[in-house]
Amino acid sequence: LANGLARTPPMGWNSWNHFACQIDEKMIRETADALISTGLSKLGYTYVNIDDCWAELNRDDKGNLVAKNSTFPSGIKALADYVHSKGLKLGIYSDAGYFTCSKQMPGSLGHEFQDAKTFASWGIDYLKYDNCFNGGSKPTKRYPVMTRALVKAGRPIFFSLCEWGDLHPALWGAKVGNSWRTTGDISDTWESMISKADTNEVYAELARPGGWNDPDMLEVGNGGMTKSEYIVHFSLWAISKAPLLLGCDVRNVSKDTMEIISNKEVIAVNQDSLGVQAKKVRMEGDLEIWAGPLSGYRVAVVLLNKGAQRMAMTANWDDIGIPPKSVVEARDLWEHKTLEKHFVDKLSVTVESHACKMYVLKPVA
Ligand code: DGJ
Repeated sequence: LANGLARTPPMGWNSWNHFACQIDEKMIRETADALISTGLSKLGYTYVNIDDCWAELNRDDKGNLVAKNSTFPSGIKALADYVHSKGLKLGIYSDAGYFTCSKQMPGSLGHEFQDAKTFASWGIDYLKYDNCFNGGSKPTKRYPVMTRALVKAGRPIFFSLCEWGDLHPALWGAKVGNSWRTTGDISDTWESMISKADTNEVYAELARPGGWNDPDMLEVGNGGMTKSEYIVHFSLWAISKAPLLLGCDVRNVSKDTMEIISNKEVIAVNQDSLGVQAKKVRMEGDLEIWAGPLSGYRVAVVLLNKGAQRMAMTANWDDIGIPPKSVVEARDLWEHKTLEKHFVDKLSVTVESHACKMYVLKPVA
């Protein structure tokens, strides 16, 4: 969407994966504080996004959405002011239907212009727009109304289409929003995470600056996967130019989680100015090579072992778009080491089970 936003994938936090409906203004403020105190905001995590369950079930007598009095007594404008005072941005959630998925608050269908105006007046910077209770009409009818309403509201608001892939939003999303879901909801397991990455990969060609494929939010730090599996999760999301929206409790982050989500070199792949989503360039059983170009003639590559045994793996220049005979310098993004040896034609390495290696390759001769 040409609203000037999302030249690189959005980064921040969202309440849903860890908290679902158990949210209130205090924990949102504490999350903003934690993004600052942990240094995560400096790494780019600047959106603080409230998901479902923030509003009263009934609109006020003028038809406006109202923040839930029991959990957000100060109102959303006050929260936006607080978040902005920290140099962060505030995101909110609504639904292109009559209710949101929790059924605990109204959706925006039929109220698009009024709600967009409300969000803009509160100082909202990001809208995630869900797809429940939509009366059966096509998303391509419902979502663009909110796009127009947001433009009319006159505040640049990142527009995240949360149509879960039913009508292939990747095929029409670029005109309508800044990101679009390609999948159903992620859960905190290896199988779920891999299946979201796989489905999202199919639409790689359709991602570009201003509009990104969204395989759903991060589960890193929520406890359902091993450290090595979470490294795979973060690596695949980064190289796929997916939104990097943290879904853990950032007020209590373990050392391992912090090490993963604060990896500057992996984040830099995600935020690279070229904005090209990586693809699977070779698959052999449980072994996959994912690669995509970066600015400066460089290539990002993930060597992924989904199998149960440690395996030898090879990334061939032929597969990943590096000219034959090139002499290449390899930077290991998880070891934070530039390999001493240079590589010609290919790079071979051993990869543990449910693990990956991630490199930036740079032709030097
Ligand atoms: C479905 C979405 O896909 C989730 O990410 C979350 O927003 C829930 N709805 C909230 O009800």
